Amino acid sequence: MKSQKRYKLVDIFSGMGCASLGFRQAGFEIATALEINPIRCEVYESNLKVKPIIRDVMNVDGKQILKAGKIRKTERFCIVGCPPCQSFSKLSDTTSVNASSDPRSKYVKKFAKIIEETKPTAVVFENVAWMVKGPGKKFFEYYLKKLEKAGYSTVFNTVNAADFNVPQNRHRVIAISIKKKHMTQKVQKSLQKFLNTKKRNHKTVKDAIKDLKPISVGKKDIEDNLHFSRNHDPKVLKIIKAIPKNGGSRTQLPRNLWLECHKKIKHGADSVYGRMWWDKPAPTMTCRCTTPACGRFIHPSQNRGISLREAMRIQTIPDNFQMGGNRQRAEEMIGDAVPVHLAKRIGIQLMQILP
Ligand SMILES: C[S@@+](CC[C@H](N)C(=O)[O-])C[C@H]1O[C@@H](n2cnc3c(N)ncnc32)[C@H](O)[C@@H]1O
Repeated sequence: MKSQKRYKLVDIFSGMGCASLGFRQAGFEIATALEINPIRCEVYESNLKVKPIIRDVMNVDGKQILKAGKIRKTERFCIVGCPPCQSFSKLSDTTSVNASSDPRSKYVKKFAKIIEETKPTAVVFENVAWMVKGPGKKFFEYYLKKLEKAGYSTVFNTVNAADFNVPQNRHRVIAISIKKKHMTQKVQKSLQKFLNTKKRNHKTVKDAIKDLKPISVGKKDIEDNLHFSRNHDPKVLKIIKAIPKNGGSRTQLPRNLWLECHKKIKHGADSVYGRMWWDKPAPTMTCRCTTPACGRFIHPSQNRGISLREAMRIQTIPDNFQMGGNRQRAEEMIGDAVPVHLAKRIGIQLMQILP
């Protein structure tokens, strides 16, 4: 569906550009992006053909962003931002958190400040679910209050990417803020309905990766640089081989194959060294998504962790997307990315409701 509307997009914390790519597919024109990591900026530029501002967001203001994006004061544009979220996982106490002064909230605060300074037509904020239901709640409330004061109404929800055509269970809070004058009742209802989307038939691991060539441990598909299996040491390989095919878990292993550290675990960590299921969505791709010791990241039927290509397919990153950096850096960028299909769906929704 091609829209006649022209909206520019500014992507703050742009990473390697998956959110930007999805918005571009929805019809947005990428005006500028901002990202601190030079490798991610290189990958961004080679795919999006836009050079991001390579800076620490803390040293940039709204004026500079508008200038870099050649955005005039009267122009309609949107901002998307996925502030880094690692710090929220370490927060255990929410009651004593002062959201306005806590250093861990600095990126959320800065993002809100950029909105105040640039006044986009709409803003999309993406983050981990802890932001609304857990440790980051105070920061999220602070963010909402700031945007409200700046003249925006926000609709938000925790969505599962699997409900948006992504073959992966990935729960993220999406907050869509629009200038109050555009947030009519009809628009608000439409956004609420969109963020409550539930799908019966989810895309599966089979849909995402079944056509890729089988590869053995330590080997690669000579036609695809990103479809390679990392080497597993003999002890790990023995475990992997013994995990039942299609959804098997380490808890099903004979006791003699249990690692010492696993013997000490009473509850939890059931997914580590787990195999994905062919007929279900994959688990959340993380920054360690090709590492069996870090989650359910073993191929459903082959005896190896998934390849970067498989992880990218699960993140709905197209095969013609150029990666950069070494294996570990690539794995991190993939795990951090917003699934392209999810970003595209959000972009299409915005195009439908914005003036
Ligand atoms: C969750 S990732 C964004 C992923 C991206 N939206 C995508 O779809 O590929 C957050 C990004 O913020 C960047 N970042 C972290 N601290 C930053 C800072 N101080 N200034 C600018 N960018 C920063 C990280 O390097 C990372 O790429």
